[in-house]
Amino acid sequence: MTELVKKGSKMILTVGGEPYVALAGEVHNSDSSSPEYMEKIWKIADDLGMNTLILPVTWEMVEPEEGTFDFSVPKTLIEQARAWNKKIIFLWFGSWKNAEMMYAPAWVKTDLERFSRAQIVKGMNKAGRTISPSIPYKMPYTTISYLCAEAMRADAKAFARLMQFIKEVDEKENTVIAVQVENETGLLGAAREQSDLADELFASDVPEEFVSYMRAHTETMVPDVKKAVEEGAAAGNWEAVFGPCAEEIFSAYHISRFVEFVASSGKAVYPLPMLVNCWLDKGGEPGSYPSGGPVSRMHEVWSYGAPSIDAFCPDIYVPNFLGICDEYTRRGMPLVIPEAATHAYAAPRMVYTVGHHHAVCYSPFGFDDIGKPFTAMQGYLFGMDVSDPALKTPQSYEEYGKTGHYLQQLMPLIKPALGTNRLDAAVGEEGQMKVMMMDHLIVAATFKTPMQPRTDGYLLCVQTGENECYLLGNASGFSLQSMDPAKPNLDLLLVEEGKFDENGKWIAGRRLNGDETASPSFDQPGIRRVQYFCYL
Ligand code: DGJ
Repeated sequence: MTELVKKGSKMILTVGGEPYVALAGEVHNSDSSSPEYMEKIWKIADDLGMNTLILPVTWEMVEPEEGTFDFSVPKTLIEQARAWNKKIIFLWFGSWKNAEMMYAPAWVKTDLERFSRAQIVKGMNKAGRTISPSIPYKMPYTTISYLCAEAMRADAKAFARLMQFIKEVDEKENTVIAVQVENETGLLGAAREQSDLADELFASDVPEEFVSYMRAHTETMVPDVKKAVEEGAAAGNWEAVFGPCAEEIFSAYHISRFVEFVASSGKAVYPLPMLVNCWLDKGGEPGSYPSGGPVSRMHEVWSYGAPSIDAFCPDIYVPNFLGICDEYTRRGMPLVIPEAATHAYAAPRMVYTVGHHHAVCYSPFGFDDIGKPFTAMQGYLFGMDVSDPALKTPQSYEEYGKTGHYLQQLMPLIKPALGTNRLDAAVGEEGQMKVMMMDHLIVAATFKTPMQPRTDGYLLCVQTGENECYLLGNASGFSLQSMDPAKPNLDLLLVEEGKFDENGKWIAGRRLNGDETASPSFDQPGIRRVQYFCYL
């Protein structure tokens, strides 16, 4: 089946026992509601070399009336994916979408008694809207309460039916390889809910088992959470135990338990890998980003609260893309990026995440925007930093497509190297030069040199034999050195341009030597087959 397994130093995805790397794209929120609209989107995905699409399935569409289910749209999407020879990661827009309840069905939204809304200030009405105009916080949609057991049960029922449907139509073919449960959970506007029930729970004792878990897992915590846990009481109410982090931890505890209930109900029916994505905290207070969502600072809480979730995944629209990748992998989780910017170095970042982090999934969001100019509206929607220098380097559609297709060609070589040091990659964002220490081999990638002035370069190396490697590069120079002290010198024997045909056979182009290997480089996306010789 489809599962996440440990291979060497990494967690990788296997489908039917074979490693699988999702070179994915997430569609705009509304596209997958219409299979007809999707026809042109599948075509774009194919052009861009994508093998997987992340597609929303919405609660409001599959359960328009309570207990009445309609899976005709996801069924057609699965058929389309098969026709295009692609995989799907379904994205369950249930109780949460961007920390709100946009996709809950009308029968949930309109029953304010049964499905209580998050109250973040005393004086909010039942719909979660502020009564007093002096309180500035107001959202166009409101948020379900994470303490609402009725919503949790109703959501879980619908999600389990979705998983049942996927199992029935797809258990043999594995077109659907994973499911993202909810979207960007959390609470906006405050660090925790402030209803009477929330106040009462917050003033009660923290469950003992959870306190012990947190105290046993301080090593991986971010500094302020670690300090709060270490300095907090060993028992008592949330404030006593978690001090300044109590409100966010309270939210994360309850949201992760809610999501666990939904995810485990689905997994019990059909155990696909399950993911949650997060709206990143950008240094602000909890509530300025969705408080209680699976941001890195709450990973220990989420690991306790939602053990059925296999990966906590960052939606990355910030300039510090590389730092976020490090942060989300440092606890040993696989790297799954369900959303990344379409403008900022989209292709180099795909190569980097696959080559360096051996990512399970990399997926630009609203990928049909690749190649289009960056707009102020996107800046607003994605919360992007408009001074990000990457935005000045728009991603070309053609280069993304070439990069995706070349990566797919290299997959038969990449797959056996996952989890080993025979696969690595570097990007221009890392600086002028990056040295990759591989298996007896040093590969130096150079960017932004007089010969390669661009900053959007990448270089991926996969070693295929004792004296052979393949490089995928763009806008970068490269050089190889031996790492073997017994044979410290290295000569190049063969540098060949080329590509793999559909049967995986190498089709050589020019054999490069002389001036072309004096200072070898890539000025457009391409593959090189390299053979070398190490000696004393
Ligand atoms: C992040 C969300 O997860 C996406 O569904 C989408 O709303 C983007 N933000 C912004 O368009």
